[in-house]
Amino acid sequence: MLDIKITKTETLKEKITSNLGFGRYFSDHMFMMDYSREKGWYDARIVPYQNLCLSPAATVFHYGAEIFEGLKAYRRADGEVQLFRPIENVKRMNNSAERLRLPQMPEEDMLQAITELVKLEKDWVPSGEGESLYIRPFLFGNDDKLGVHSIENARFVIITSPSGSYYAAGINPVKIMIETEDVRAVRGGTGYAKCGGNYAASNRAGEIAEQKGYAQVLWLDGVERKYIEEVGAMNVMFKIDGEIITPALTGSILPGITRKSCLELLRNEGYKVSERLLSIDELIEALEAGKLEEAWGCGTAAVVSPIGELFYNNKTYIVNNGKIGDVTQMLYNKLTGIQWGKTEDTYNWTLKI
Ligand code: PLP
Ligand code: COI
Repeated sequence: MLDIKITKTETLKEKITSNLGFGRYFSDHMFMMDYSREKGWYDARIVPYQNLCLSPAATVFHYGAEIFEGLKAYRRADGEVQLFRPIENVKRMNNSAERLRLPQMPEEDMLQAITELVKLEKDWVPSGEGESLYIRPFLFGNDDKLGVHSIENARFVIITSPSGSYYAAGINPVKIMIETEDVRAVRGGTGYAKCGGNYAASNRAGEIAEQKGYAQVLWLDGVERKYIEEVGAMNVMFKIDGEIITPALTGSILPGITRKSCLELLRNEGYKVSERLLSIDELIEALEAGKLEEAWGCGTAAVVSPIGELFYNNKTYIVNNGKIGDVTQMLYNKLTGIQWGKTEDTYNWTLKI
């Protein structure tokens, strides 16, 4: 159990209630805790939201030792606040830490840090349609020396941001560009870890896609550029000729918590679901034969986002007439129903604060 020292802010910020966007506003407080090899984790504290003061030699600035998580606090219809599968984020954070050799944390301590901060910031959980308090825990190497070495000091921080829809399009279908040059991750690399470096590696293709009017990039595998992996901030699923297919977790893909939840929901609804390798050729063949019935992405920020258009090798393909499909809509309704407490949570996924 952490002994968290709380210092409250003297001036509460004005709460924004419309046009939240994603990740643009931040609540009044943040959580921080430090680590050193000698002391272990120490100085758990909640303090007013503020800039970080770090050595310019800190490891994170030079060698990219940074990992993060993303989860949400939802305002239920009855006014209470709940988290969605937070223990999954805690476990994934520790897996990411293991990959980058950043210090791990007892699961119950990380969960306590998240819940205590959300409890204090409860009034920041918005109640508008599709809105939530996005929670961003992150952890980075904080050694004050330039040699490339194993990490001795680190810092763990949690900030929260009242947010709306991740895409400007909301639940409307998004346009995705299939990337054929750059790759995001390779097996044996850091693809399965939620580390900042994966997103830095994605920047170039992401910017080019944006300039061409696409919301995000769909990545192919890093070795053969043959198999479909995931989208910039979400996992992908396709319905081809009645079969629901999502790329298998081969090590270079982020094991999404929304992905895992969608798979459980789909299997429970009796759909045929396959986690397997899906080649770009198979996808394009299905598109050309009119057999790609639906495509969607899923993630904490993106929720369930229909894909209405795919761009590959200078050709544009329209999916399901650019409309949201039945399975996508069903998943969206079921998932958001549980997350926002509009329907009963028979899976025991939610944690009330
Ligand atoms: N893939 C990537 C690259 C992501 O950034 C995210 C977002 O977290 C996801 C997938 C979806 O993961 P989750 O459902 O756990 O949010
Ligand atoms: C999330 O869904 O939590 C993400 O991390 C997406 C993010 C990169 C904006």
